[in-house]
Amino acid sequence: MQSNWQEIFLECKVNVLASVKPFRSRIKEPQPNLGTGAGGDPVKPMDLAAEKALVNTLKSRGVSFTLVSEESGVQTFGSEAESCYVTTDPVDGSTNFMHGLPFYACSIAISNKPFLANDHCGMVVDLFRDVAYMGFVGEGAFRDGQRISTSENPSLDDALIGLDLNTYKVKEVAPKVTRLIEKTKHIRHFGANALELCYVADGSTDAFVDLRGKLRTTDVAAAFLIVKEADGLVTTPENQPVNAELDPKRTLSFVASGNPRIHKKILSLINNQC
Ligand code: IPD
Ligand code: CA
Repeated sequence: MQSNWQEIFLECKVNVLASVKPFRSRIKEPQPNLGTGAGGDPVKPMDLAAEKALVNTLKSRGVSFTLVSEESGVQTFGSEAESCYVTTDPVDGSTNFMHGLPFYACSIAISNKPFLANDHCGMVVDLFRDVAYMGFVGEGAFRDGQRISTSENPSLDDALIGLDLNTYKVKEVAPKVTRLIEKTKHIRHFGANALELCYVADGSTDAFVDLRGKLRTTDVAAAFLIVKEADGLVTTPENQPVNAELDPKRTLSFVASGNPRIHKKILSLINNQC
């Protein structure tokens, strides 16, 4: 299982990187909006170029699949399209890309049923640094082929935690995270959540929290698996397993942490706000 998909992922990585490269030198030029994507955001030429590179690579490898994409929505390819679901955000962190900020990624997850819980492998590619994070269910998580694992730090006193408070339901979400912000040594948000979750997976950060209910399954399908395979935890804010239909419109709130002790502390702070 691993070697087959690993090879296909590596080919996807090369082709997606090549597809977005021409846009790098044109970041100062306005990119036209090509309508609204299935996930609800404006579609840019770069998003479609990355998606096309992905689809063409899978087709050329003879994969039959149902595409679940933040851009084009749900489409089927080949005669056994229901045996394989390919969930993707072709470019996560488009705003960073368009501002010339070096933090954006391509996310692709593979499952045999249209649910997050059925993902069996996934890849997130850091498209600026050319680094591939992969996870294979039961087999672990890897960064450029080297096994990775999450942080064992149990304490918020010296923790670095990613927190997304970006542009959505701020008045509702901010009070829920005030105590967490107060108790945590360092708070960050880099602007491409699939990649930020991979930073939890490799222990660069201790946790990542997004309580907005805005992030789509297409953004997180690969990264959730990578965090879990790196021995991290991903739950709802109520400490339930996260599962959802793989659908470009389906959104979630979640807490992803490096280890159970810090996870428990984070959940307690967001659930007991006074
Ligand atoms: C965005 C990024 C960002 C998050 C936004 C997402 P996109 O993805 O993950 O960090 O704050 O909510 O929409 O739109 O660049 O694919
Ligand atoms: Ca996107």
